[in-house]
Amino acid sequence: MITLALSKGRIFDETLPLLKAAGIEVLEDPEKSRKLILPTSHPGVRVVLVRASDVPTYVQYGGADLGVTGLDTLIEHGSLGLYQPLDLQIARCRVSVAVRSDFDYTSAVRQGSRLKVATKYVGIAREFFAAKGVHVDLIKLYGSMELAPLTGLADAIVDLVSTGNTLKANQLVEVERIMDISSRLVVNQAALKLKQQPIRRIIDAFAGAIGKN
Ligand code: PRP
Repeated sequence: MITLALSKGRIFDETLPLLKAAGIEVLEDPEKSRKLILPTSHPGVRVVLVRASDVPTYVQYGGADLGVTGLDTLIEHGSLGLYQPLDLQIARCRVSVAVRSDFDYTSAVRQGSRLKVATKYVGIAREFFAAKGVHVDLIKLYGSMELAPLTGLADAIVDLVSTGNTLKANQLVEVERIMDISSRLVVNQAALKLKQQPIRRIIDAFAGAIGKN
């Protein structure tokens, strides 16, 4: 049995065409079912639904053989024990710094003052500001980052931006683009050895379908 870990939402939806290219169809809609293990049209393949931030953990420890995860999540988790054969070029977005539109970010950074930064991406933020030589106090949050500058919790946030609509709706502006993000296929290294043929077939089919939707 091959187990593929996916998270609900954009990653799940955008992985379906890649699975289809591998001749695999997921037989239940996760938005309609409460099941966490979904059968597929291929008796030897199943999909498990996990939180986006848990996908690398499942694959690293063998709870799943493969998974699809954003580069942001992968960087924060670390890639120990994970083989990363493909950039799937799906769920594309970016990690950016954003502030209130009335906050003078350029001056704050130039003057060398300490910046309070709220984020779920503590590792990415720490490395980015360290490379710029900007002192930051990092505040770890788990969601709704946009609220932090609006409530005075932080001067800036480091968060995912896709359309920019969430920032705009909260009177925030993007002041720096840290990195472009897309989803990656990750594979458990031991599984790749033990179940080489079926896993290789999936990797090859995904590779052939990248960018075609
Ligand atoms: C992400 C991110 C922003 C939003 C950006 O949240 O945290 O809130 O998307 O998208 P936009 O630029 O198109 O408005 P997501 O919906 O992934 O949920 P999260 O809050 O759990 O991260």
